[in-house]
Amino acid sequence: MSRGFFITFEGLDGSGKSTQLAGLKAWLEARGESVTATRQPGGTHIGDGIRGLLLDSRTHDLSPLAELGLMFADRAQSIAEVIGPALERGDVVLCDRFTDSTEAYQGGGRQLGSRIVLDLHARLCGGLQPDLTFLLLPNLQRALQRARRRNARSDAEGSPGANENRFEREDQAFYRRVLNKYREIAARESGRVAVIEGDGSIDEVREQIAKLTEKRLRLRASHEKGRP
Ligand code: TMP
Repeated sequence: MSRGFFITFEGLDGSGKSTQLAGLKAWLEARGESVTATRQPGGTHIGDGIRGLLLDSRTHDLSPLAELGLMFADRAQSIAEVIGPALERGDVVLCDRFTDSTEAYQGGGRQLGSRIVLDLHARLCGGLQPDLTFLLLPNLQRALQRARRRNARSDAEGSPGANENRFEREDQAFYRRVLNKYREIAARESGRVAVIEGDGSIDEVREQIAKLTEKRLRLRASHEKGRP
């Protein structure tokens, strides 16, 4: 499963990662790369069903362990159906959230700890690791305000994304734990995780992401040349 290149985007709700993923996709395609973009939870028929259940604010009393199990059910399906085949084909795969989200939100936010998340990842995802992860960490308050505004807008418009705000209803303490866990992951996996701090403009961040991606793709190409 290693012919392609696997890039994930991580961050708090409202961190702008989906916009940046779309920007990188366009940039890669303009360079002639074949790109598969997906997101978690979701991105498969089964995953979209799981996403509905997980994010709908009308879902009550979901236990933290059941939530954890659903995140991994979604991920296992996505790897089997989308990510695995795309990497096999040699695509650059862009995924909006992956296991770092589970470690940060369920491990940190829900206080289940990292151990159970990393164990499930090893068992259910074959230990698949991104080659590169962009972790967007803008100011906590501003990110949450942005996410809440976006959801209020889609609720009011009755758009298909409506009610996707079960997590945004969590309190500050929850998000602080998520943020701390993200920082812990970044320190532990500094070779993989590129942290983008602060509130740079969309274009500034886009440029930073494109530059680092280019560097990593060049490195990969030179390793491949060196292979027998
Ligand atoms: P998003 O698609 O807008 O980023 O929203 C997904 C929400 O699901 C977000 O609040 C984070 C949460 N989430 C987890 O709690 N654990 C996970 O493993 C993933 C992938 C997402």
